[in-house]
Amino acid sequence: MTAPPSNAYAIVDVPENYAEVIQRRGLEGVHVGPSEAESPWVPFGDNAAIRHLGFDVRNNIYSNVLWIKSPGVIGTHKHRGTVVMTCQEGSVRYLEYNWVAEPGSFIYEPPGLVHTLVTDHPQGVKLFGWMQGPIEFYDQQGAFVETTDVWWFINHYETHCRTHGIPINEALYL
Ligand SMILES: [Fe+2]
Repeated sequence: MTAPPSNAYAIVDVPENYAEVIQRRGLEGVHVGPSEAESPWVPFGDNAAIRHLGFDVRNNIYSNVLWIKSPGVIGTHKHRGTVVMTCQEGSVRYLEYNWVAEPGSFIYEPPGLVHTLVTDHPQGVKLFGWMQGPIEFYDQQGAFVETTDVWWFINHYETHCRTHGIPINEALYL
């Protein structure tokens, strides 16, 4: 396949039986650019930050980039929903598994998994995640600490915005 010259690209009208319904009931797609003006890095503990990308309250879905800035750990947690992640920078592993995720790695975490995330990389790790359902966190004795879900992530984002006078980006609410 050879690429046509760029001036050959054009928007194409395609058939759609339900165009009127989609027009009335469909949703816009979303683009969130890379600048902090569109979504800031929100501190998450002393050594990490979260860049929130999307919140879907109907489905308890939340998407973000988790940045652990140097070698560190995210405590033991149990998934009650499904998580899809890709490693963008650095590396990460779980105490419970024998693999190390690197840039380009794909990670799939179905409900019921319990694991402890560790990065040994000098620059830590950046992980893009599309997450669904509650995540339960436990301490080192196995005692329940807290649940994170779409409400936790919205509160994390909005509290930071309020504190720093940053406008809420409505595009993040899917
Ligand atoms: Fe996990």
